[in-house]
Amino acid sequence: MNQTLTNLFPRTARINARNHLAIAGCDVVDLAREFGTPLYIFDDAHLRARAAEIRDAFQSRWQNSLVLYATKAYYSPYIARVFKDAGLGIDVTSEGELEIARRVGLTPDKIYLHGNNKTPAEIHAALAQGVTHIVVDNLDEIELLARLADELRVTPRVLLRLAPAIDPHTHRYLATGIAESKFGLPMQTGIAMEAARRLAHYASRITLVGLHAHIGSQIFDLAPYRDTIAALTDFAAELKSAIGFELQELDLGGGWGVPYVEEQNALAVEDMAETIVSSFKFQIPSSKFKVQGSNLEPRTSNLEPETSNLKLVFEPGRALIASSAVAVYTVGAIKEIRDVRTYIAVDGGMGDNIRPALYGAQYTARVANKMNDAPTMRAAIAGRYCEQGDILINEVALPRVSAGDLIAIPTAGAYQIPMASNYNLIPRPAVIAARDGNARVIRRRETVEDMLRCDVDE
Ligand SMILES: Cc1ncc(COP(=O)(O)O)c(C=O)c1O
Repeated sequence: MNQTLTNLFPRTARINARNHLAIAGCDVVDLAREFGTPLYIFDDAHLRARAAEIRDAFQSRWQNSLVLYATKAYYSPYIARVFKDAGLGIDVTSEGELEIARRVGLTPDKIYLHGNNKTPAEIHAALAQGVTHIVVDNLDEIELLARLADELRVTPRVLLRLAPAIDPHTHRYLATGIAESKFGLPMQTGIAMEAARRLAHYASRITLVGLHAHIGSQIFDLAPYRDTIAALTDFAAELKSAIGFELQELDLGGGWGVPYVEEQNALAVEDMAETIVSSFKFQIPSSKFKVQGSNLEPRTSNLEPETSNLKLVFEPGRALIASSAVAVYTVGAIKEIRDVRTYIAVDGGMGDNIRPALYGAQYTARVANKMNDAPTMRAAIAGRYCEQGDILINEVALPRVSAGDLIAIPTAGAYQIPMASNYNLIPRPAVIAARDGNARVIRRRETVEDMLRCDVDE
């Protein structure tokens, strides 16, 4: 029986003549032997194609669109170069992410600094690096930004991150635009308006150019995005009459859902872009703000790229990267608890993928060295870390598995490696990129020595 690969696997993934999973022409069993496990394998062609697809879907509908990669999903010099080559900007939240951008020579006008508690050092580092855009999250940040901008003699362009009280219908840990969120300026309580007034006070040092909202992650329903656009454009109109604000940039964050298991349907990039851009075009005439140089007629269809000066900004993280990687583990112990469940323990777990333990994220798996074998058992994939909650998958159908087999978990590109830890003092995995039959290390496996480097012993 030939069990074909689902589209959860990257585009170049195949089942080869040895009944093994292959990515970019590289046999995964050979890769595991060469680089060890746990191993994260990125499909370079998939990653680049995805970046181009998302960029083009927006730019073909709205010329002045900028896609920022949300670096928190996973950033490294390799990833930075791939997205830089694709013409994407980035959304950063730390000096570490800024440093990678600096090393690969990403132009600072494509960097947006985020964070709900930016430190003075981070803001200073960003402004000193020439970063032009700061996304303000709270009132306290405004005085700090004004002081640092004054010190460095720069005039940052600022967007207000708003909490528009929109429920994105996702896990509560992933809902970031609801009224009680720790992120953003609540619109309903007047705090967002207060922030705009304070910024207006510093107009000679800070230029308020836009509004931002990131309502959450793993969103499959497009309606919350439509509501967000309506809320933000209405607020822009309010700001226009209150303080004479001219909207120049509208940043809709990221959050586009990605399937992790077969039952979830992928959100088509074209649908996403069409919904967002057409909702935006629809809102322009209905709101009272003026967009410099734009055609204010409602545009209901995708005719030509819009030439307005208004910049539409998007910040997908997961949607750009999650599906480009597969995590591979070696099976060790197998524990059958009669009438309860069978645990297949692997050599990784919550140390390289905290998502199932953190918010019940679901995954699926295949046996990379038995790809076409029919499933005969249902089992849990257990991690090796000292927590009962360290279960990567609660239940998955697999062929008969024995020690030494390789478990491949797709959709491993986002929020796994960057959230990895050294819990139990276990080194973090190696990451490789495969292309055209070759694979190269983009992050070497950590050693015990690496882990102990920061400890001080008298
Ligand atoms: C401000 C902001 N933008 C974009 C993202 C990316 O979200 P996702 O990876 O779900 O697209 C996040 C994620 O937390 C975020 O906080």
